[in-house]
Amino acid sequence: MKEKIEELKKILDVKLEEATDLTKLNEFKINYLGKSGPISELTNCLRDLDVEKKKEYGKLITDFKNDIFSKYEESKSKYELEELNKKLESEKIDVTLPSKRIRRGSKHPNSLTIEAVEDLFVSMGYDVVDGPELETDEYCFERLNLPKGHPARDMQDSFYITDEVLLRTQTSSVQARYMESKDNEPIRIIVPGKTYRREEDATHAAQFSQIEGLVIDKKENNVSLADLKGTLEVFARKMLGKNLDLRFRPSYFPFTEPSYEVDVTCFKCGGKGCNLCKNTGWIEVFAAGIVHPNVLRANGYDPDIWGGFAFGPGWDRITMFRYGIPDIRYLYQNDIRLLNQFDRKDDE
Ligand code: DAH
Repeated sequence: MKEKIEELKKILDVKLEEATDLTKLNEFKINYLGKSGPISELTNCLRDLDVEKKKEYGKLITDFKNDIFSKYEESKSKYELEELNKKLESEKIDVTLPSKRIRRGSKHPNSLTIEAVEDLFVSMGYDVVDGPELETDEYCFERLNLPKGHPARDMQDSFYITDEVLLRTQTSSVQARYMESKDNEPIRIIVPGKTYRREEDATHAAQFSQIEGLVIDKKENNVSLADLKGTLEVFARKMLGKNLDLRFRPSYFPFTEPSYEVDVTCFKCGGKGCNLCKNTGWIEVFAAGIVHPNVLRANGYDPDIWGGFAFGPGWDRITMFRYGIPDIRYLYQNDIRLLNQFDRKDDE
């Protein structure tokens, strides 16, 4: 028995030496260290021996087993480490390589427009004000001199939610809200915001954006049509082109009297006439006027003491003119091919 053990020891030592990678080592384990391997066979032979011999050889076999298992584990660790090192070597990362450029988003052209408009008006002492898009009939119409049944309501096809609640058709609603919130103080605000109407074509989207302007002061301070004209002139020249002229055309809005539609020299042809201005030399940009006494009164301002002007250009229209975008719907489709053209450089 002793010899058998010694012999097997020698054989297994050689076999282990020959197992020079992890696959071969695994084969060695299966063939020699498993349940049906030669060591188990030796153990089985103990069964027929007497107690003393069983003890003696049993110990020898156990020592042998422990010895060969620890040698096997040692080899296994060695080859595992070798394999890991090989892998690390082949997958080495060169940390000095330049990284891939991270693509930076760009600002939406409407954002670029409003940032410029806000900067301009803040520099003239205006506040930038917000208001709810879900509005009541009262603030959207009634407080702006548009009582129920007024024919001018037909000018704006509305999305009603209930009889009294609608998606605001105009940012003018914030005129009423803001005046109401003030206790007879002068007002100078712009209100950029989303508006909604039931219409859609290349120049009208069901959701679009406006920039409302409102200036209210004591009559003794003479806020006049000249101030409105000066303000819109600065606005147009800053946003659309330095040498533009304005043309005031009488118009009608319920909340202003007198009311105007304001044209700007066509910035494409300089006023000579082209396809953009339909050969008139002018492009309509603003709606504006002197705040109607009924609007002042409805919102807590005495029209004998207070007066002012209001204006409301389409925000999208200004963006379209500024950047030559031919269809308003492009502004709301978020097509990356359009947005990519507006790099951050534009506003830096
Ligand atoms: N709210 C009007 C519209 O959506 C535009 C407008 C006209 C605004 C005259 C004004 C204004 O502030 O004075 O058609």
